[in-house]
Amino acid sequence: MNKKILGLVGGFASHVLWLLCLTANAQNLVNPKTEASITALIKKMTLSEKVGMIHANSSFTSAGVKRLGIPELVTSDGPHGVRLEHGRGWIPLNNVADAGTYLPTGNTLAATWNRKLGYDFGAVLGNEAKFRGKDVILGPGINIMRSPLNGRNFEYQSEDPYLVAQMAVGYIRGVQDQGVSASVKHFAANNEEVDRGTVNVEMSDRALREIYLPGFEAAVKKGQVNTVMGAYNKFRGQYATQNKYLINDILKGEWGFKGLVMSDWGAVHNTMEALEGGTDLEMGSDIGTPPLKYNQFFLGDTVIALVESGKIPVALVDDKVRRILRVMFKTNMIGSKRTAGAYNTKAHQKTALKVAEEGIVLLKNEDALLPLCKAKIKTLAVIGQNADRENAMGGGSSQVKAKYEITPLQGLKNLLGSSVNVQYAQGYKIQRNQMVDSLLIEEAVKIAKEADAAIVFCGWTHGYDYNKWDDNAYDAEGVDKPDLAMPFGQNELIRAVLKANPKTIVVLMGGGPIDINAWVGSSKAIIEGWYPGMEGGTALAEVIFGEVNPSGKLPMTFPKKLADSPAHKLGQFPGVNGTVHYNEDIYVGYRYFDTYNVEPQFSFGHGLSYTTFSYGSVTVKVAGDKEVTASITLKNTGKRDGAEVVQVYVEPINPSVPRSIKELKGFEKVFLKVGAAKTIKIILGKDAFSYYDDKKKAWVADHGKYRIAIGNSSRDIKVRKEITL
Ligand code: BGC
Repeated sequence: MNKKILGLVGGFASHVLWLLCLTANAQNLVNPKTEASITALIKKMTLSEKVGMIHANSSFTSAGVKRLGIPELVTSDGPHGVRLEHGRGWIPLNNVADAGTYLPTGNTLAATWNRKLGYDFGAVLGNEAKFRGKDVILGPGINIMRSPLNGRNFEYQSEDPYLVAQMAVGYIRGVQDQGVSASVKHFAANNEEVDRGTVNVEMSDRALREIYLPGFEAAVKKGQVNTVMGAYNKFRGQYATQNKYLINDILKGEWGFKGLVMSDWGAVHNTMEALEGGTDLEMGSDIGTPPLKYNQFFLGDTVIALVESGKIPVALVDDKVRRILRVMFKTNMIGSKRTAGAYNTKAHQKTALKVAEEGIVLLKNEDALLPLCKAKIKTLAVIGQNADRENAMGGGSSQVKAKYEITPLQGLKNLLGSSVNVQYAQGYKIQRNQMVDSLLIEEAVKIAKEADAAIVFCGWTHGYDYNKWDDNAYDAEGVDKPDLAMPFGQNELIRAVLKANPKTIVVLMGGGPIDINAWVGSSKAIIEGWYPGMEGGTALAEVIFGEVNPSGKLPMTFPKKLADSPAHKLGQFPGVNGTVHYNEDIYVGYRYFDTYNVEPQFSFGHGLSYTTFSYGSVTVKVAGDKEVTASITLKNTGKRDGAEVVQVYVEPINPSVPRSIKELKGFEKVFLKVGAAKTIKIILGKDAFSYYDDKKKAWVADHGKYRIAIGNSSRDIKVRKEITL
């Protein structure tokens, strides 16, 4: 098969794969034949060869054993494109063909609420990783968006564990069906950046089980992920990457994970704890110039001495080597040959476009200001540096050297061609501590006044230049936002433009919420554009001009102000004296806003369309206490084809313990032509009704009454039905 055909991960091929993955038996890293081969290999290995395999031997690789046919393990970031080449060191290489597909960031993917797109996204990534000779893609990042300030939220998926789990499973299967491994990260409780390397996280078992772990559990059990990356932070006093409770007891014990646990880069701090706490592979500790010094790894030469002096059994090392070898056998690194991957195909770019089209969220649209009509516009004012800015290289380790990136300005120009006069003004200067620039505002106001409509692209930014990734970076690794205030004097700009031209559309870019109180009341149309990948500009233009009917839904709550967010209101952020107590407990995101009746700016699950949908009545069937099936008929009652995400929440009535007023337990994205109707069925298992009982250390589903609440956001419930379990 040629590369072109192999590259066909979009369209029909991916649909078949997707169906297969739904029906296929769970992948299994353990089978008797490979276990026997692994045992035989381990028997032939010297102690130093074994220890050579459990720590890095360059920035992104760990050693194999050449004489036994065991190759190096080659990893690469992740999570929304294969990272540029670093060779064996830390400085990006020049003059290598590493400009690839830049997919939309994790938050954009989650905003599609489309599981199949999660799979397609992963398949593109896996396919390009394979082409580039990578064995493990370091993604998906699935940490819960606990606070809107977290600098890495853009890489993550959601504040809701169910949505996280649903999107992560598709992504992982997509990557791994290409024959390479995914590495779900960062396990666990890595929910802030500033002090990620030292902060100690304290939370109840209930919060851990109900909020922070379900995504990882699904990645292991349903996604059959081959590798897991530990986190930098401490959890209950012990570093997460070498945390006995998290890794040995829960991940490898309870969940039966048989694959490889690698550290985050430089996250191992102690030899014995790593050996006994479940770390199988130590990465990134020696950040010097190659050749790396193995005695600077905690799992390096010291381990040889410990085994030789009888202080630790060799079996402990063997288990780590076995787990690495399992991943190698599973991904055809030993014995058999891998198929070729493909790079920069049209199909991959099409997937990037599709995710952006479905992930962009229409937040507000009064008086049907959107979509704009191309035929009615002669002059369009495009304002804001974000309109003209590329984002692929921003944000830290997730940076991608994009083959190309269509900025919003370019996307609009491409779509409008010569029939519309597109005027651009920078509006604000992206520069740390930069305040209002009256001259830039004046320029923007001038073009807005003369235009038939204006679009302001604003919001967050992340750094561009590799060597200065945190310059001007609000959404980036290693930094958290100081607050939710719009930087660079953007509020003043937006207010001035709104005054100059009432037909102004505001497009927010970034990793999540921003404070828009200064002008939200006077704006009619607002779009959330995230960091939408290499085709993001195309997708934004299509949404603005109605060639695509928006169908994205917020995967996180937009608070009115930071102080309303539960981590800030009830908990701590980023912590006190090196420890952060998650006092808000299970009340994360909408669980807090809806239970405590705090009005958000935009609620979880919210997203408008250019068409309208009607929700028919709900039928609910209860099969003993095992399964509840909810059916609902959805109809497209508007004038455009479109898609709606039907969201199913479970509301416990008089629960025996304090519970969130509602929890998302099912959803379906439904595409409907004008006038068409469809009945969808959503099955809720016992887990949909359960909470984690801290005392019993078990999941419990109370007998009693529940409401099945169906709607299109956590705050827009269209129908409710009471049931008794
Ligand atoms: C990040 C990981 C990343 C790794 C390798 C770390 O700093 O936290 O997400 O995969 O570096 O680049």
